[in-house]
Amino acid sequence: MHALSSLLLLGAYATQAVFGRPEDLHARREAAIIKRSVDSFIQTQTPISWERLLCNIGSDGCRAQGAASGVVVASPSKSNPDYWYTWTRDAALVLKGIAEAFTHDYNTTLQRQVQNFVGSQAKLQGVSNPVGDLSNGAGLGEVKFYVDLTKFTGEWGRPQRDGPPLRAIAMMTYARWLINNGYTSTARDIVWPVIKNDLTYTAQYWNQTGFDLWEEVQGSSFFTITASHRALIEGAVLAQSLGTSCTACSTVAPRILCFVQSFWNQNQGYVVSNINGGNYRNGRDANSLLASIHNFDAAVGCDANTFQPCSDKALSNHKSVVDSFRSIYTINRGIAQGHAVAVGRYSEDVYYNGNPWYLTTLAAAEQLYDSLIVWKQQGSITVTSLSLAFFRDLVPSVTTGTFSSSSSTYTAIINAVQTYADEFLAIIDSRKLPNGALPEQFDRNTGTPIAASDLTWSYSAFLTATARRAGKVPPSWSAATGNTLPNNCAAVAVAGTYATATNTNFPTSQTPGVPSSTTTGSTPTPTGCSEVLVTFNERASTQWGQNIKLVGNHPALGNWNPSNGILLSAAGYTSSDPLWSISVLLPAGQSIEYKYVNVQSDGSVRWESDPNRQFTVPSTCNEVVRGDNWR
Ligand code: NOJ
Ligand code: NOJ
Repeated sequence: MHALSSLLLLGAYATQAVFGRPEDLHARREAAIIKRSVDSFIQTQTPISWERLLCNIGSDGCRAQGAASGVVVASPSKSNPDYWYTWTRDAALVLKGIAEAFTHDYNTTLQRQVQNFVGSQAKLQGVSNPVGDLSNGAGLGEVKFYVDLTKFTGEWGRPQRDGPPLRAIAMMTYARWLINNGYTSTARDIVWPVIKNDLTYTAQYWNQTGFDLWEEVQGSSFFTITASHRALIEGAVLAQSLGTSCTACSTVAPRILCFVQSFWNQNQGYVVSNINGGNYRNGRDANSLLASIHNFDAAVGCDANTFQPCSDKALSNHKSVVDSFRSIYTINRGIAQGHAVAVGRYSEDVYYNGNPWYLTTLAAAEQLYDSLIVWKQQGSITVTSLSLAFFRDLVPSVTTGTFSSSSSTYTAIINAVQTYADEFLAIIDSRKLPNGALPEQFDRNTGTPIAASDLTWSYSAFLTATARRAGKVPPSWSAATGNTLPNNCAAVAVAGTYATATNTNFPTSQTPGVPSSTTTGSTPTPTGCSEVLVTFNERASTQWGQNIKLVGNHPALGNWNPSNGILLSAAGYTSSDPLWSISVLLPAGQSIEYKYVNVQSDGSVRWESDPNRQFTVPSTCNEVVRGDNWR
């Protein structure tokens, strides 16, 4: 039976609201039919997805002629819509999937893709663009480039600050593989310098607003913030295993974790995906499903602080987001609660009239497969008052409590969630093009595939969701080292330095091997004591277009050169309290001289009066705050 007709059949019976109960033979038979049909869909679609995904990567991808080596084209579509660009977000997520697949099954083709990607991004980081350049890192927030790696100067919703952390995450997956296989020096000398720029950007700019992943809302986006947290936690740990450190990572990450929590709507039980902007929307958005699956770390179980897929928060949110699409699309009509429906970006969407997307429907499935992995691993499922409504849709008789793997409730939940997840895949099966091609969207009224053809991200979303269904656990990002909320939640942004990575020649034949004990940095340097976090708070009344910078006698302070000075943030500026602020990591015990400068909109520089300000960085681990007034 075709998956879609079995789905419709299910819808008809679902009014009995008993699906998932072991005694319901009909439901069990339907579940078996869906499973078989999804098994066979995956078998056919997997090689097609790999082939079409790789076709979109330069320079030799079959649909990527003209794209530079390692460049992931968003879609080969050159008009209606024109997606013939490389978006940093899409590329990073696709490479994250490739690097994970490669980690599970060694494959020279995929390894070459990852290496080409690192090389292309090392170049791209140095391309100045409408957002800025690499001198203070600002240019890393640019959204998309031409496929030959030149800048795009048209109008766009920029910056988008998820690109750098996502790209760091993708490259860190490969760096860890290198370390685990005895190639630590390759990870340190070639990959780390590229990763480091993106981590430095994240630590410096995470708390500034930008456009969300759908490129429409200027504000703070849950997806961006959770990716930023993950990247810095992962970066701190990776730095140590490379024998170096990322103090900014470990300093800033806990403060981001605080901010992650503030997107939660306690009354409604879902994540408000955009805050500090986008208030005309209700907040339910596939943004949060993607945040959850891309921060999956099976080693922290169902942790809610990091919004793990099986946490009660993320499951309650899953229900809210999926339910928000039930009544708005014609193709979802008649499908009962507890059964999968097509999922879009957010219900107010009007792009192409607002349709379901392949990658968001797949994300809904992936979160459920992730959860199944963890429940089976821990041998129990906990239902809280928060997640109860999610579970009741699937197993109506369930109550709150912890159910061990020997209980019938556990079995009923596992079976019901598996079938629910498979139904989302069955929707993809029924909406794909006959040749297996997956574009960006399918029509909300007719289900017909539309918008950007062969969207690279759609293929990647299919491959990661089905890898989880097969029980493939993504490499841990060390979430367990960073899922505790700190006492001090004050936002801190650490300014850093950037440099173009020049060495991108990967040695050949780096095949699977054993970790080399001599090269791994085994004694982690205690972080925070060789460098001390110094916050500079300057009160300076400024006119629109003027910026305050910090300059001084240290490379981190631009060596007295205002063009290399550090831009302070005006995020806390009000007319009654004209606060400009930035934090810098400076060497403990260092004697520092500095001044603030006011940079006018025409670029001219006004210096504070003499003498230079002077202080000595303490030799303890304690943070220091300097409070200054413009002179
Ligand atoms: C193009 C963007 O890629 C898309 O996300 C957005 O919805 C439309 N522009 C409309 O602003
Ligand atoms: C529009 C999507 O909204 C955005 O997330 C994506 O990066 C671009 N299309 C390119 O695929």
